Amino acid sequence: MKALRIAVIGGDGIGPEVIEAAIPAIELAAKSEGATIAWERLPYGADHYLKTGETLPDAAFAHLKNAVDAIFLGAMGDPRVPGNEHARDILLGLRFRLDLYINFRPCTLLHPDLCPLKDQRENEGTGERGRQVDFVIFRENTEGLYLGRGSSKNVGTADEEQIAEEVNTAPKVERIIRAAFDWARANKRTRVTMADKSNAIPAHRLWQRLFGEVGAKYPDITRDHFYIDALAMQMVKSPEQFQVIVTNNLFGDIISDLGAQLVGGLGVAASANLHPGLAGLFEPVHGSAPPIAGKGIANPMAAVLTGALMLADLGFPKAAALLDGAVRAALREGQRTPDLGGSARTADVGRWIADYLRTA
Ligand code: NAD
Ligand code: IPM
Ligand code: MN
Repeated sequence: MKALRIAVIGGDGIGPEVIEAAIPAIELAAKSEGATIAWERLPYGADHYLKTGETLPDAAFAHLKNAVDAIFLGAMGDPRVPGNEHARDILLGLRFRLDLYINFRPCTLLHPDLCPLKDQRENEGTGERGRQVDFVIFRENTEGLYLGRGSSKNVGTADEEQIAEEVNTAPKVERIIRAAFDWARANKRTRVTMADKSNAIPAHRLWQRLFGEVGAKYPDITRDHFYIDALAMQMVKSPEQFQVIVTNNLFGDIISDLGAQLVGGLGVAASANLHPGLAGLFEPVHGSAPPIAGKGIANPMAAVLTGALMLADLGFPKAAALLDGAVRAALREGQRTPDLGGSARTADVGRWIADYLRTA
């Protein structure tokens, strides 16, 4: 048995609810492939910040950096912290300071009725039914507009000026593009799409140049490009065309919610923040969902699927596949929370998935 040490930061709102509902299933799946998990629950989030003034203390950061195999995080965001400064330190802080430059966000349709798009091929009379949405977003995770560089003047006056600088540096653009191509090759995908806004933002020409240069080293993989506005349209028009999409931090954030909704919504969207060779940070794409927090109705599937990404990254692909299969089974059997049209509760779905793994 391999012993894994995983830090858990439930965080705010529905974060702790979905994480706790997902943990038993993740633990069972890991065990079936020979791993035990020691979960280390850490208190960081809005409550802790409001009580102590602490976001993520240096000692905790050092511990997360040096002493755990992975970090499993729920969500950050609380109406009592309107400036979101705790999330900046904890969530963005971990992404930046651990240099987790790949934000990996799969958009895979796990059940045909979760896609909100009409069935085009059926309408076209091809005889084929069901949409086939299955792509992955590689979101740059360490620079862009998210660094928060810029300046402000005349704050609070009629002449207020806020300048936000978008940072694009060659080594960082290059490594995320390379990661997208490497993943495509390793996973037998044949096409990588890059999206930028170089027609309006000259800085994005760097993305064009590096996409061409890096992509040329992968002659087995076709490159295509859309401006981000056109990409958004194409994602709705025919998402089947996409296999791997690589883009900058902000655009990646926006299209990951769009991509999530193509396959059922934020309740089923998982993500991994990675730097190959280092411990990763794993979190659902969704936030803390304040309006439904504490009601026991949040969908824990995104957290379970995030657990699958975590186990796969830790070297347990069979365990990951089991979790994926269990979520598909739950969807098939109608074990659904209200976001997916069902009436099951968070804990019911978590328990059903764990029971399924116990008896499978
Ligand atoms: P959100 O993702 O919290 O919610 C968007 C919508 O999706 C809401 O209608 C919500 O009810 C629904 N939803 C989200 N997750 C769900 C789940 N598991 N089950 C059922 N429904 C779900 O986004 P928001 O409302 O824009 O943000 C709320 C707070 O979360 C903000 O403070 C924001 O900054 C933060 N946030 C944090 C993260 C993160 O920690 N990774 C991600 C996004 C937003
Ligand atoms: C996400 C979230 C975060 C982001 C917020 C909470 C800062 O929306 O993980 O997608 O923008 O990266
Ligand atoms: Mn987001």
